[in-house]
Amino acid sequence: MTPSGPSDSPAASVRTRPGHSDPSAPLRCAAVIPAAGRGVRLGPGAPKALRALGGTPMLVHAVRALARARAVSLVVVVGPPGEAAQVRTLLDDHLEHLADDSTEVVVVSGGDTRQDSVRLGLAALPEDVGVVLVHDAARPLVPVDTVEAVAAAVRAGAPAVVPALPVTDTVKQVEPGGEPGGPEPVVATPERAALRAVQTPQGFDRRVLTEAHEKVPAAGEGATDDAGMVERLGVEVVLVPGHEEAFKVTRPLDMVLAEAVLARRRATDAF
Ligand code: C5P
Repeated sequence: MTPSGPSDSPAASVRTRPGHSDPSAPLRCAAVIPAAGRGVRLGPGAPKALRALGGTPMLVHAVRALARARAVSLVVVVGPPGEAAQVRTLLDDHLEHLADDSTEVVVVSGGDTRQDSVRLGLAALPEDVGVVLVHDAARPLVPVDTVEAVAAAVRAGAPAVVPALPVTDTVKQVEPGGEPGGPEPVVATPERAALRAVQTPQGFDRRVLTEAHEKVPAAGEGATDDAGMVERLGVEVVLVPGHEEAFKVTRPLDMVLAEAVLARRRATDAF
């Protein structure tokens, strides 16, 4: 482990073991993990990504999940603004036992919205990165096969690839801006069979995603989905099968489910 750079440097390399990838390879694949959210819906406490799951911070699970993928040789973690040093220390402490110990992990500071945080993560990528996977720290249990499948589809030529699952609930569209908790008039009921719930990692040709972040303006809370920004450029986005264990930890009940999934993995896979 070779921590380098002062703690307040914009991109602090926390763990560099070169030699894994050919720096001249045109399609080097990096992961950007936005982890700067406060996690308000999870209740009071530390930023969501730093909360423990099975005794290990959620962010560490997410970094491991991406770093385990053979395709990924660099992980850029986007930490809460002003907390990059804390995040770097936490990763130094936990990443000793990565299966693939050649993956480089860099920490940068995030912004006020997820869109800002992803943009700041993209800005930290070296030039030789051609494929980018953007993965929510809040999806700590994504299986490595899902990560590999998304990366492979981009490497095979798709400019934007998203893992997704059919929705199980019927979904109603309402007028935005209603009173929270009050009755909301329904304006439409989209056909359920035509809907998909999207997950991460979302994979991109790096140039396409960078262009989307340069050209698509931020509105309101900013984009919650990178693929949606790419769609607005008129670029085709394709879906590949997602995985039920790639769910997002948002509310307290999600923590209960995540702990159960972890316990089962530990019992059955010596995870
Ligand atoms: O808000 P939500 O839970 O959908 O956030 C998805 C991901 O975006 C989380 O991993 C969160 O840490 C990240 N995020 C961020 N910067 C923000 C807000 C959210 O990196 N300002």
